[in-house]
Amino acid sequence: MLVTGKQILQHADEHGYAVGAFNVNNMEIIQAIAQAADDLRAPVILQASQGAIKYAGVDYITSLVKTTADRIDVPMTLHLDHGTDFEEIMKCIRSGFTSVMIDASKHELDENIRLTKEIVRIAHSVGVSVEAEIGKIGGTEDQIVVSDAEATYTDPEEARIFVEETGVDSLAIAVGTAHGVYKGEPKVDIDRIKEIDRVVSVPLVLHGSSGVPYDTLEKAVAAGIRKINIDTDIRASFAGAVKAFVAENPDEIDPRKILKPARAAMTDTVKEKIKVFGSDGKA
Ligand code: G3H
Ligand code: 13P
Ligand code: ZN
Repeated sequence: MLVTGKQILQHADEHGYAVGAFNVNNMEIIQAIAQAADDLRAPVILQASQGAIKYAGVDYITSLVKTTADRIDVPMTLHLDHGTDFEEIMKCIRSGFTSVMIDASKHELDENIRLTKEIVRIAHSVGVSVEAEIGKIGGTEDQIVVSDAEATYTDPEEARIFVEETGVDSLAIAVGTAHGVYKGEPKVDIDRIKEIDRVVSVPLVLHGSSGVPYDTLEKAVAAGIRKINIDTDIRASFAGAVKAFVAENPDEIDPRKILKPARAAMTDTVKEKIKVFGSDGKA
């Protein structure tokens, strides 16, 4: 069943686990995640970036996820990841997304608050949840490129003010993770998560979580992270399985035969993450 971001994260908050938020771009990825969630009885967030929407079309993403949510009996949220454009966010709300992210983190605090507040006002009037971001997470996503030098950790006091002023339902924080493949081992500031969690009333979100060691992710959940975003590791298992299949079967041209092992590999990856996040058996 399709539920709002607020509903799915509220349950996680009450029970001390994190919901996996996995990026989707096509049918096979959606099916792979849904299979993992169903097998492990885990609530799950399916999220599409503006790039995913450009690739697949908002109507395809929405109807694929709705069909999945009707078939599979675990709570599911359809979420816009890193919405930077007002019209794109409105398009998702109109299409039936149950949660959106407004990412105005590249702006100064005042402007971030102003832009976020406007999205919260509109989204809440139609029952859609809102995630926002404060601080700058390293790496690249959609139009936003943040170099390591530019990445700035979230200040707990600013986070408190931001949440109070905007009325957001969840907050993405910068605590040392980065989008994409890590060059070295990420250093995640667990004490900062604890401090932000102490002063902020809404569930906290960790972006750039692919490649983060599992013991670090477990500590992040214990410190108060309630939504964990994973994209790169799913891409890697998809690409790895396709390459291996094609190498072994160079004459195969049937897309179904090529994509089936990739779909299974993505399910395995998602299952592994769900267990680390502690969301298995929570649906
Ligand atoms: O945080 C970014 C996500 O990995 C989405 O990436 O903009 O290439 O779809 P994308
Ligand atoms: P990774 O690609 O590093 O897993 O990050 C995903 C993400 O944060 C999506 O918003
Ligand atoms: Zn992200």
